[in-house]
Amino acid sequence: MCGIVGAIRAHANVVDFLTDGLKRLEYRGYDSSGIAVYSESEQKIKRVRRVGRVALMEEAVKQKGLTGHIGIGHTRWATHGGVTEPNAHPHISGGLISVVHNGIIENFEAERTRLEALGYEFESQTDTEVIAHSVRHEYENNGKDLYRAVQTACSRFHGAFAIAVICHDDPAHMVVARMGCPLLVAFGDEEVFIASDVSAVIAFTRKVTYLEDGDIALLSANGIDMLLDKNGDKTERAVKTSELSLASLELGGYSHFMQKEIYEQPKAVADTAEIFLDGGFVPENFGEHAPEIFSKIKSIKILACGTSYYSALTGKYWLESIARIRTDVEIASEYRYRDVIADPDELIITTSQSGETLDTMEALKYAQAQGHECSLSICNVLESALPRASTLAIYTRAGAEIGVASTKAFTTQLVILFGLAVTLGKLRGHVSDDELTGYADDLRQLPGSIQHALNLEPQLAVWAKEFATKPSALYLGRGIHYPIALEGALKLKELTYIHAEAYPAGELKHGPLALVDENMPVVVIAPNDKLLDKVKANMQEVGARGGELFVLSDLDSDFAETDGVHVIRTPRHIGVLSPIVHTIAVQLLSYHVALVRGTDVDKPRNLAKSVTVE
Ligand code: G6P
Repeated sequence: MCGIVGAIRAHANVVDFLTDGLKRLEYRGYDSSGIAVYSESEQKIKRVRRVGRVALMEEAVKQKGLTGHIGIGHTRWATHGGVTEPNAHPHISGGLISVVHNGIIENFEAERTRLEALGYEFESQTDTEVIAHSVRHEYENNGKDLYRAVQTACSRFHGAFAIAVICHDDPAHMVVARMGCPLLVAFGDEEVFIASDVSAVIAFTRKVTYLEDGDIALLSANGIDMLLDKNGDKTERAVKTSELSLASLELGGYSHFMQKEIYEQPKAVADTAEIFLDGGFVPENFGEHAPEIFSKIKSIKILACGTSYYSALTGKYWLESIARIRTDVEIASEYRYRDVIADPDELIITTSQSGETLDTMEALKYAQAQGHECSLSICNVLESALPRASTLAIYTRAGAEIGVASTKAFTTQLVILFGLAVTLGKLRGHVSDDELTGYADDLRQLPGSIQHALNLEPQLAVWAKEFATKPSALYLGRGIHYPIALEGALKLKELTYIHAEAYPAGELKHGPLALVDENMPVVVIAPNDKLLDKVKANMQEVGARGGELFVLSDLDSDFAETDGVHVIRTPRHIGVLSPIVHTIAVQLLSYHVALVRGTDVDKPRNLAKSVTVE
């Protein structure tokens, strides 16, 4: 969702950075963009905003010949007010104050009424414009001190936000504030950058400082001139070197990031499995306090959204069968508004690629406020909000995931959840030494099995041609493969806009069977496990109603291709990690259906990568 960039460069034009940075934030999802810079030649803040892609805005910036040593930029995902140029950021108040903003000012209506009564005129329907006018009001009425003006204005706002503010009167300084939304400051040689996401800055510098909630910083080209924390006390934040590789942000020969990320899975999974294969199945992998926490917990609750929710659902099966620990999984946006019964012996786990999904974050805070003492974040983005707010944290080693539809983050989350199940199983005496060796072998072989599944792409591309002409599709699975059916249906919806649903195959006869006819392709995830015969019986129910079956199975499950039954087999039996391998097939199927239908694979309509609003 919305992305922020900003820069002060003593000897260089900031426009290149602002447009490059915004392009690197495009993956988060947005519908308009803009930049504002202080033009020394004209001695005023100049702005360009456009609805649509950053490239359009960049073109307009070139035509207008915008240059400057200080500026801010933004990609906007519409929340308050439609997708229009007046609603796009940056917002300007009276030619004096310009602001970009991520997040939501919850009390913006009251603020707007207050400011209108003071004579401020609004040009947009956004919550952000209240920040611009509010900062200007404080600035003009309280000693023309930009830092103090931002501080006072922020104290009036409720909600989660990150902002960057520049002022016509002082083109050498910028003020940034963080409250609930990510914001970092990065340092070059006599230049300073800000961004909501490190991917925006690493082409320019790797030296970064992550601000904390409540921080307000005064910046100049020399760096951070002043930093106060949420209590108004002077503070310093560590400067770190980002290890994110620039190559991970480029297509590198692939047609789409999603395709690249699907193909990166053998490595991403191997890198993540290394945590357990090198370090052992030990609690310490999850954080310093994990040994004591893991030995006292009696149950687990996992909170997540979207694809991360489906990884959690899959993990539940391993946690209950391998570790014998009761595990519930709940959609974060539901949990946070429920009357929950807190249990200090229950471990709250959040799974999240971005680590900044607002609903997941708020669900975690709610759990903590209700008395849950122990939490573990399974996350892909280093230093993001969820791991920072959790007692324990472990990172997937997927690398940057740019495609909006999550792929390698999902399979690496599964590796961590499997590793957690084995770790807890060992700790609780449910995993023997032989079993432990077996689980380690399974993990060792997993990247190879994924590679085999990738080789199925040509066959899946043939299936895709048929799916692309259908209005909807049904995905079936049983047991631990039911969440993979859910993930398959989600991927098809996200990427191709074809309606898709997933059901536990045994539930077919209680409703969805009524939908089955020759226009409804039915994908069945049917590896050779203890439920295979049950699944086969469910498939008969589909066949008898003229439904066409597309079966994803493994080598020794003896399915025959017949009329109306298409079968693709992974080349080996994969055992306990089979859900991960079958995921590859459903990802590739959706990817190819999207190609046939010509949809925007990496940026599906209406969707965002990081959902930082409710
Ligand atoms: C968005 C993305 C999904 C993702 C979900 C949860 O909806 O488009 O791909 O699964 O957010 O995101 P998280 O970063 O918490 O995993």
